[in-house]
Amino acid sequence: MPTDFRTALASATRAAHEEIERELALDGEVPLARYIAYLRSMHAVVSGFEQALVEDRDFAHLGFHARRKRPWLERDLRHFGVAGDVSNASPPVDFAARVGWAYVLEGATLGGRVLYKRLAPLWSLTPEHGGSFLFGYGERTAEMWRSFVEALNALDFTAAQKEACAAGAAQAFRAIAEAFRASIAGAHLGIGMQDRRLGAA
Ligand code: HEM
Repeated sequence: MPTDFRTALASATRAAHEEIERELALDGEVPLARYIAYLRSMHAVVSGFEQALVEDRDFAHLGFHARRKRPWLERDLRHFGVAGDVSNASPPVDFAARVGWAYVLEGATLGGRVLYKRLAPLWSLTPEHGGSFLFGYGERTAEMWRSFVEALNALDFTAAQKEACAAGAAQAFRAIAEAFRASIAGAHLGIGMQDRRLGAA
């Protein structure tokens, strides 16, 4: 039986996923600064990409207008009184590669559910108090993922486009990891924690 595209994409990016999980190290004794660095890295990457996805006609059927993550991230960062970061990574122009980015950002909602359960008790996170991004779609997560995967699998990609998509996904994972490292480094230097606040809600 042929493997569907999403399953192939999951296999192609498994190592990248494992690597980012290791790098984020959001298990065990997690310092709050580490969680905030994760929020900032996701904000950096999502900010540079999401609006383009929402406006992109090629993405209309993937429903990105209803999948915005930037407002969640900004709400969380405001809760902690922390500024957002800007990523140096520029999302690809190629449609297939951008789908790979979209896959990674959307997939983060799955990890978010696991992380919410794990981290919420540490700092009393709720969607209103610093946990909006991890909470994500809440009870609707599985349903939102299912509809995304359906749209993904319906794309009529050539073998070359599938490869470009997997490469795009790998690039997105790298962009997040880089933004995370930059955020951690900034936190150690005290940059962005008090002096570059987001505006009021
Ligand atoms: C420590 C952090 C993370 C944990 C614990 C985690 C955990 C998980 C889990 C448990 C799943 C599978 C959910 C399911 O099949 O129901 C998943 C899937 C996924 N996660 Fe993560 N994740 C983490 C970070 C991330 C990050 C930072 C990204 C990207 C920004 C990401 C992208 C994805 C993607 C794309 C999938 C879908 C894979 C597929 O197609 O099956 N994850 N994650």
